[in-house]
Amino acid sequence: MSKTAELIIDGKSYVFPLVVGSENEVAVDISQLMEKTGAVTLDLGFKNTGSTKSAITFLDGDKGILRYRGYSIEDLAEKSNFIEVAYLLIFGELPTQEQYIKFSDDIRTHTLVHEDIKKMLDGFPSTAHPMGVLASLFCSQTAFYPESLDPNRANNAVYLSIIRSLAKMPTFAAWAYKNAAGHPVNYPDNKLEFTARFLKMTFALPGQDYEVDPVITEALDKLLILHADHEQNCSTSTVRIVGSSKASIYSSISAGVNALWGPLHGGANQEVIVMLENIKNDGGDTEKWINKAKDKNSGFRLMGFGHRVYKNFDPRAKIIKKAADDVLKKLGVNDPVLEIALKLEEAALKDPYFVERKLYPNVDFYSGIIYRALGIPVEMFTVMFAMGRLPGWIAQWMEMRENKEPIGRPRQIYTGATLRPYKAIGSR
Ligand code: MLT
Repeated sequence: MSKTAELIIDGKSYVFPLVVGSENEVAVDISQLMEKTGAVTLDLGFKNTGSTKSAITFLDGDKGILRYRGYSIEDLAEKSNFIEVAYLLIFGELPTQEQYIKFSDDIRTHTLVHEDIKKMLDGFPSTAHPMGVLASLFCSQTAFYPESLDPNRANNAVYLSIIRSLAKMPTFAAWAYKNAAGHPVNYPDNKLEFTARFLKMTFALPGQDYEVDPVITEALDKLLILHADHEQNCSTSTVRIVGSSKASIYSSISAGVNALWGPLHGGANQEVIVMLENIKNDGGDTEKWINKAKDKNSGFRLMGFGHRVYKNFDPRAKIIKKAADDVLKKLGVNDPVLEIALKLEEAALKDPYFVERKLYPNVDFYSGIIYRALGIPVEMFTVMFAMGRLPGWIAQWMEMRENKEPIGRPRQIYTGATLRPYKAIGSR
């Protein structure tokens, strides 16, 4: 393969180097483009633009491949657990038994949050969406740990910020839910492991024993693994560009939480259930809604189908679909909304309209179904996504810092008014 790319503008030839990754992906390095040609590229949504070189996650949209640090998502979902995967993403290698125990115990040590954060929580109305509460509480760590404001401090300070982020995110998430439910908060039970600890903190009620269901714990841990990273998606790109200004890890990740909240990104799993409930409340006629989805003038779009990157199937969806089937069977869940989901899934996988447009069920379709079956309230679905994505955000923020990447500063093509003299319009 050639090592360069040639660009011809107004008959003049410009040559740029090609960059080839470890999976033979090819990029044209245009870092000298403006200096050489005076031109910039235009790529709305950056869908054709590499923002960085990264060794964390590899995905192949055509083949439906997703790997964290070279390990397939299938292997990790089946054989690993969320904390081990978090270690792998952040530090680049699977932990030894000793490293795993230390990492888990370090996280366990920091699950409590400053009592003053409860005063912040009390200031939110119960109508506040848990994602807004989560982003605010997560960023509040900059106030309680001011040393984190200098991301270039000695690495043990950064390690402590990583541990605090992983340890306190579940506490913030559980408290955001309790605020929405109007219930008193629970404190973390450090005798439990990560996912079980979160479930008890979220769902235990005063005066009632709460037994963590191992089926739910295992399914949720698998979901967290499947959401842990996804290369340069919207929220991860947000974390990296905020972090590129040397903002703290807490404010960078809080920005990522806000980006994930959008219905076109992490909010899609909540939109799936809203769509299914609307179909149920309309009488449950899936055929009618499938036809609406095919009618461009209907303004109706099936949520949870297709993907910007995966062209044929989302590898995570395949794993979650099996987990959803297992959980529904084990829990004996019989939910009309889930029946509607299975009919939509069947149509999408068979109907030529959806097959031709690659509108197959994606990770958000099945995760919405499984969260509902696990008894997780719909307003907490995107919070679960954020909790899962946290190790990926941390790993990407760390990599950007370690690679000493420059501040992100994209350019534009200006299309507004050209120079015009000021003439007062009113009587000024
Ligand atoms: C994700 O996992 O972040 C979503 O699939 C969105 C994406 O990768 O663009």
